[in-house]
Formats: sequence, structure tokens, C-alpha cells
Amino acid sequence: MPSLLDRISRLWPREGALSTSSGQRAALGVVTALLASVPLVFVRQSVITALADIVLVSMLVLVGGLYLHRNEQGVWGRFRDIAILAALVLGVVYGTWLSALILPGVPPYVLPIPLAPILATLLLNPRVGILVAVVGVGVGILFGVLDGAHVVGSLLAGAAGVTAMGVISERSRLISAGGLIVTVTGASALGATLIESGTLQQAIVAGGLGLVGGALTVILMLGMLPVFEHVFGVTTDVRLLELANPGQPLLKRLMMEAPGTYSHSVMTGNLAETAAQQIGANALLTRVGAYYHDVGKILRPGFFVENQAGMANPHDNTSPSLSALIITAHVREGVELAEEYRLPQEVVEIVRQHHGTSMVMYFYNKAAAAGGPVFEADFRYSGERPRSREAALVMLADSCEAAVRATSKPTPPRIEEVVRKVVAQKLADHQLDLSNLTLAEIEAVTVVYTRLLASVYHPRVEYPEVISGRDKNAGQRNEPSRS
Ligand SMILES: [Fe+2]
Ligand SMILES: [Fe+2]
Repeated sequence: MPSLLDRISRLWPREGALSTSSGQRAALGVVTALLASVPLVFVRQSVITALADIVLVSMLVLVGGLYLHRNEQGVWGRFRDIAILAALVLGVVYGTWLSALILPGVPPYVLPIPLAPILATLLLNPRVGILVAVVGVGVGILFGVLDGAHVVGSLLAGAAGVTAMGVISERSRLISAGGLIVTVTGASALGATLIESGTLQQAIVAGGLGLVGGALTVILMLGMLPVFEHVFGVTTDVRLLELANPGQPLLKRLMMEAPGTYSHSVMTGNLAETAAQQIGANALLTRVGAYYHDVGKILRPGFFVENQAGMANPHDNTSPSLSALIITAHVREGVELAEEYRLPQEVVEIVRQHHGTSMVMYFYNKAAAAGGPVFEADFRYSGERPRSREAALVMLADSCEAAVRATSKPTPPRIEEVVRKVVAQKLADHQLDLSNLTLAEIEAVTVVYTRLLASVYHPRVEYPEVISGRDKNAGQRNEPSRS
């Protein structure tokens, strides 16, 4: 039975999430302005000030919309993203209203001030996060929760949240980001209260409350983020970091059931991530996509060369066309597994596109050598060609790693030759046509893969065995006496 969140997320038009019309944007703006005005009207004593609130909130929504239109085309163009922003702004308004009603006179720092800016940063981007921080402080002033130096303190806390969560590429960064939020919130509370009250005692109490508020922010963020991700179908860096953890169930299965494929996937991830950093693509998504790209091999691991150490090759007793069928099936089966384990759509797409529509050349050549009719279509993957730079990077890293691993005596010039050949074949086969990679980026990626693969697969100097008579004697000299 689907959960409540599942049901809500199904109400959401996934296709409509990608683009929006000006009518939809205008309707959302009007609804947001009206809903945001309601609590402010309630707290005002006179009709005139209530009307002034409505005008102020409408101007805020209008100017915010204009700002997005001029400066944030990525957010402005997607209905899903402006809906997230509207939900966050309304959350700030109603959250502040409720806290003013339930906890009147409570110092503002005990509240999770940086929460909405952090969510906006993780779900959209840091620039929108700063916008939400400014809106949040404005709302706090309108409700009479913030004034004087506390305005600066709250802005600082929000800005710290945005800064800390702006770039998270490693799990350890998440912990240090949480630490920064708690520290800055506590210090801002202490400083602002000292300016306002002038007594050290009150400032220390406010500082302590700030630490509590900062910690509460981090806890609520970890709790609310998966809800937003699920309902709006957004994949954040925090979710990707979770998926990169080797303890994830599907990665664990890959490690236990297809260990050769697992180490190939980790190597592919390292290559593709470095290339993504080099060309400014999404490095974390690329790494995670590479970790999962071959999960379909879990179903028949023994049919893939990297898992055959010390085993008979089952393809020796299989016709080339059946072998190709088994090999190409790992893409479809990988997509099914990825969906079963609820991996984000972006990662599923990388699994689907990592071989594109390329050919299984080894079995095609084997079939051709055996004589008889051979149809190219029987030896092609039935996936999709990469539609993003990240998917293309995984495709190239995957093929280059496998080709170099299969090369005997891989000297650096030989490795470069193999990498260039793989890239040229993919280009000639039109596999990269939809990926948005430029030729300059492809060249940069080729250089990165050559360098990294040469550092891993260069021929090793064999460790010399001790055979000289003098060394033998030396060993005997050191032997303990048996007498
Ligand atoms: Fe594959
Ligand atoms: Fe692979």
C-alpha cells in the first residue's frame, strides 16, 4: 500500500515540473501573496495596517518574482522549483506566526532561523537561499519577533546556513556544516543580545539558546529534507551522499554478489568524478551514477569478465547471439533494480544510458568469424544514448576502464592510445551526440582518464626475490640457534 507521501507525490505532474507558463506563475504568485497575508492581517489591530500588510506582501512576491525572472532562469522556468520556493516562504510566514502566538516573548534564537534558507539552498541553489534568508528576517520584523541588532544576528545565522550547505561533496562536510551553523547561530545570538541588553548574563543565555536553535535547525533539516525530496521529486546532494555510502543495500549487494563489478564501478566513479570536476559538471551525481551503473550485473555476475577470476567462462558454451543477449540485458535489469531500490531519477537515467546504443563488439566479431548471417541490431544495447554530460562521463569512464584493464602491458603511451580509440569510437558511433559535451570538454576528459588510468594500470616492477648466497648466509646468521 502506498504511503501518504507517495500519494502526495503522485498528485504532482512530473512532466509539468519541468516547465511552466506565465499564467501558472502568476496564479502561484497571487495564491502565495494571499496566503502569506492572512496571518499578518490577523495580528493587526486596524484595517489600514492590515491593508498595508497585504500591499507589502504583494510587493514582496512581485519583486521576488522579478528577481527570479531576471537572475534565476533555471528556477523561474520550472514550476516545481517556484512551488518549492512558495512553500518555503509560506512555511516561514506561518512558522513565525505560530511561534509568536504560542511562544510570545521567547528569544528568537531558540527558533530554527536558518532552516528555510538551508532547505532553499539544498533544494534550489545558494542564491535563492540568501533570498529566503532576507524574506525570513523581513517576516520576523513584521510579526514583531525581530528588531534592532537581532535583525543582523538572524541574517548572519541564515547566511551561515546557506554558506555551510552550499557545497557538500563529502559526508564529513555535512558534519562540519552543521557545526558551523550551530556556532554562528550561537555567536550571533550572543553578540546581538549584548548590543541590545548590554548585560553579559543575558547575552550568555541568548548564546546558549542560539546553540539550541542551531542544533534544532540541523535536526529539522535532516527530518524535512527527505519529505521535500519525495514530494517534489528533487535529488539533493545530501541524498546523493547517502547513496554513495558503501552500506547502502544495493551497493552492498553489488559488493557481495559481484565483487569484480563493484571494484570496476568504484574505479569508474573515481575517473568520472575527476573528469566532472575538471569540466564543471555535477561531480557528486557523476560519482554516484558510476557506482550504480552496472547493478544489473548482480543477476548473472559470472557472465561478466571482471567476476570470472578462477572460474570457467560460461560464454564458452553459449552462442555469440545468446551471449550478447545476456550481456545487453544488464542495462534493463539495472534500471529495474535501481527503480526497485528507489534510486533518484537522475541516477536511473545514468544506468539506462551508460552503454547508449553501442555494440557488443567482442561477440559481434565472434559471430561474424563463425560465418552465417549476423545482424548488427542483435548485438546492440537497447538503452538510450547519454542525455547529460554526467551520463556521458560515466559511459566514457566505463569503456576506458574496461578497455585499459584488458590491455596487456599497459604502458602510458599504450594507455593513451586505448583511451583515444575508445573515445573516437563513441564519437563516430554518435553515442555522445545528445550529451551536450563540447569537443574541448571531450579532450579534457580524455587527458584526465589517460592520466588516472596510467597511474593505476602502469606495469609494476617485480619485487626481487632474495637469491644471492651472501643474503642466504645473512639469513642463516640471523636464524635463532636450534641447539
Ligand atoms: Fe555496463
Ligand atoms: Fe561498467
